[in-house]
Amino acid sequence: RKGKTPEEVVKRYLQKVRNPPEEDCTICMEALGGPSGYKGPGVASVSRAESVGRLAQCGHLYHLQCLVAMYNNGNKDGSLQCPTCKTIYGVKTGNQPPGKMEYHGPEHPNPQKPFTARGFPRHCYLPDNEKGRKVLRLLLVAWDRRLIFSVGTSSTTGESDTVIWNEVHHKTEFGSNLTGHGFPDSGYLDNVLVELKAQGITEDEEQHL
Ligand code: APR
Ligand code: ZN
Repeated sequence: RKGKTPEEVVKRYLQKVRNPPEEDCTICMEALGGPSGYKGPGVASVSRAESVGRLAQCGHLYHLQCLVAMYNNGNKDGSLQCPTCKTIYGVKTGNQPPGKMEYHGPEHPNPQKPFTARGFPRHCYLPDNEKGRKVLRLLLVAWDRRLIFSVGTSSTTGESDTVIWNEVHHKTEFGSNLTGHGFPDSGYLDNVLVELKAQGITEDEEQHL
């Protein structure tokens, strides 16, 4: 809502009131026919003609300056809430701290069943050389296409409904090779390039990144 001043935002939700009734503004408790009780900073003076407005949907009347003061006191997201009846004008947002929300659709083998994820985060190793970096780039493509993991039965542990590696081998052990998924393994980079190709991910894909 770049460029919109608080007064412009508030006015979007207001209708003009030429002859205010003999009632008080419930924000400042002063007569609607007189000036707003609010003289705070950021509240510019307004002409007599537009000193009172009617909220378009609920019809409640307020001093324009009172609504602007109320707006300035909130998180200024372009929305306005009638303080009398709580009708919301525009799209109200909050101040929730940052985070991530995920949901799972009916995609894995037993859609309604909860699944586990063992050993996460899983850490993998690649040599920092030209071919290793190429494999990394292709693994990033595979991740974006959701091809690194699946949900199923782990052949290592026998557990069902759990997150498992999916056809593309990763090196999860460093400095020893007790699991068979560590180095040294001189054929690894070539093998994983073949596995990636079987998933439709080849060097040509790099141009599409
Ligand atoms: N590292 C890399 N690949 C593995 C590992 C491992 N530790 N274990 C299995 N794989 C490979 C297998 O060779 C197979 O191709 O993943 C494929 C699926 O095997 P599962 O045993 O079903 O996979 P998952 O249950 O995900 O692996 C179990 O991996 O990271 C660890 O904590 C995890 O020790 C657990 C093991
Ligand atoms: Zn209202």
